[in-house]
Amino acid sequence: MLPSIVILASGNGSNLQSIIRHVDLGYIKARIAAVVSDNPDAMALVRAQAAGIDAVLIRQSDHASRDAWELALIEKVSKYKPALVVLAGFMRVLSERFITHFEKRIMNIHPSLLPAYRGLNTHQRVVDAGDSEHGATVHFVTPKLDDGPVIMQGRVQVSSGEDAEELASRVLEQEHIIYPEAIRQFIEGEISFDNPRCRQNTSEKISSPC
Ligand code: GAR
Repeated sequence: MLPSIVILASGNGSNLQSIIRHVDLGYIKARIAAVVSDNPDAMALVRAQAAGIDAVLIRQSDHASRDAWELALIEKVSKYKPALVVLAGFMRVLSERFITHFEKRIMNIHPSLLPAYRGLNTHQRVVDAGDSEHGATVHFVTPKLDDGPVIMQGRVQVSSGEDAEELASRVLEQEHIIYPEAIRQFIEGEISFDNPRCRQNTSEKISSPC
């Protein structure tokens, strides 16, 4: 049986769409068991339904506390017995309890070249700083925000006069390449939390910080 992946997404879900495509093509040999969102308006839920994947909404306002919401999230995700939990634009900070529960098998993508620009508004911060280079990072999740072993980075050169929106869309293109590749490597056992194998990649588009 194929290993199962659960994807958590809060927004548009373009990364989700790219992962769905790579699963459908057989590039990632796994099954997306469910897409779980905290946001009733998430396009990611629509994309999941269109692909015939369980689309699950777990919103905080339906629970007595943040704690109760996260517990419901843990219970739901656990039911799918995921080999890997993928955060694809999931805009909630997960507590240590969640992270310990799925220890060493949670991946995240962040729109910066970590460790630079943890947190929000990364594209605008890069523009404001006048940086010449930007990108995205896939990493394993630890309790510290936007931290944890780096698996892969996609880089772009920042053009002069480019605004945050243009930059965001070019970084997203990189995300759609590196996230499916990182997931494939995990599913095939080429990498793990303890061995993220930060290899140098000679391709211009995929690189490693190690
Ligand atoms: C992506 O750029 C992803 O890196 C970012 O949200 C966007 C989601 O896009 N994630 C974070 O900022 C997490 N801190 P998508 O919904 O189109 O995949």
